[in-house]
Amino acid sequence: MRLNGPPQRLFRIATRDEELGGKRIRQGDWVALFFAAANRDPAVFPDPDAFDLHRPNVRKQLALGHGVHFCLGAVLARLEVSCIANAFLDRFSVIRHGETPPVKQTATLLQHGFLTLPLHVER
Ligand code: HEM
Repeated sequence: MRLNGPPQRLFRIATRDEELGGKRIRQGDWVALFFAAANRDPAVFPDPDAFDLHRPNVRKQLALGHGVHFCLGAVLARLEVSCIANAFLDRFSVIRHGETPPVKQTATLLQHGFLTLPLHVER
């Protein structure tokens, strides 16, 4: 979820004038929140590109949003991911990339995802 979570960015409309990182934001401006960039912020997640399930602060990742709009389906989403991962790991002892490379979707910048993700699996 932190490294390759589905939401790459979401939008908000500023409710008041604000200055952030030296940039002026005016009330009514559209603001893009890059959740994916925050999830790789080295100040929060040292060595941000490393896949490490044991990061002490891994729950600070923002793939499920933050604040009042935090994902209402977060518990279900986490359960689904854990069921899929466990079902896969129960069935296959070898899981690696297939012979052709994965193809990322490029239709929208909002979401990260693959059109195809060929895998080689063995029982
Ligand atoms: C891996 C799966 C999921 C991801 C990555 C995800 C991600 C997100 C994110 C980032 C937001 C915040 C949107 C914002 O701030 O504007 C959100 C909100 C929401 N999610 Fe999910 N979600 C997932 C699964 C689900 C599921 C399974 C449900 C329902 C069964 C669900 C229902 C909602 C609802 C209703 C909101 C709006 C909450 C609000 O605006 O107060 N999501 N989700």
